[in-house]
Amino acid sequence: MRILVTRRWPASVERALQQRFEVVLNKDDAPLNPAELARAMDAFDVLAPTVSDRIDAEVIAGGGRCRLIANYGVGFDHIDLGAAKAKGIAVTNTPGVLTDATADLAMTLILMAARRASEGERELRSGQWSGWRPTHLMGSELEGKILGIVGFGRIGQATAARAYHGFGMKIAYFSRTPRDGAEALDAEYCPNLNDLLTKSDVVSLHVAGGTQTANLIDAAALSAMKPGSYLINTARGGVIDHDALAQALETGHLAGAGLDVYPDEPSIPQKLLELENVALLPHLGSATVQAREAMGMRALANIEAFANDEPLPDIVT
Ligand code: DGY
Repeated sequence: MRILVTRRWPASVERALQQRFEVVLNKDDAPLNPAELARAMDAFDVLAPTVSDRIDAEVIAGGGRCRLIANYGVGFDHIDLGAAKAKGIAVTNTPGVLTDATADLAMTLILMAARRASEGERELRSGQWSGWRPTHLMGSELEGKILGIVGFGRIGQATAARAYHGFGMKIAYFSRTPRDGAEALDAEYCPNLNDLLTKSDVVSLHVAGGTQTANLIDAAALSAMKPGSYLINTARGGVIDHDALAQALETGHLAGAGLDVYPDEPSIPQKLLELENVALLPHLGSATVQAREAMGMRALANIEAFANDEPLPDIVT
């Protein structure tokens, strides 16, 4: 069985994979272009891509040999599931193992936005800091504020737990149905997104990407947000209309934002780069040694199950 891993994985996982299978690694870690991905679909039994590979219908059409797309990552909106299914290709992901890392990063962004941390660092590094003064870069405390979670799955709940237990925030959440786990956090269920946006001091996005959530936070949703509130996104860039967000930040309707994901990574909307009141991170949600190793081992478990003709533990389709 031949496997192509499209980007470098942590060394321990690459070694474990090489011990069991014939693996081709992308030694220089450069992203593959669509033609290379399509050729890989024809030359390998298993493609192990990441969020930075667009596995669209054309790429999938390029191959006759590939039978498993073992994604390294939990999100799979970069893979055309319909096209894969039509060709009889199974798709797996790596859920569960990056929950804590991503929730930690959401909390990092909440604090960065509310305490103006990246603004402060930019000022200091550019030599502009003139010293302590009582009105310098005043931010907002989190204690008693309402954190509105959009999408109350694993990562949304883990973020809420950190904010509730660690920072004394009150929790409200929006999801299609009320979720177990809300009670332990005294979390209020909001079946209507606008209600959640209107009441929250901080809104943190934790929905899956893709067409169903594209531009969920558009100009109307942003104007429904409480004046002076903060928007945090560790989910997918496409969930927010970034032109409308830039405007809401520019006018001061939103006090700040913290973003880890963008619609067309690695490019960042220019308007956001020019704004002081937004903290921008380069898609670091799962970037801990622990999570990245566990993600690799999870992908490996799916590949092993596939090789042994066993049920795939994390089958998506
Ligand atoms: C995921 O797993 O979907 C992340 O966005 C990549 O770490």
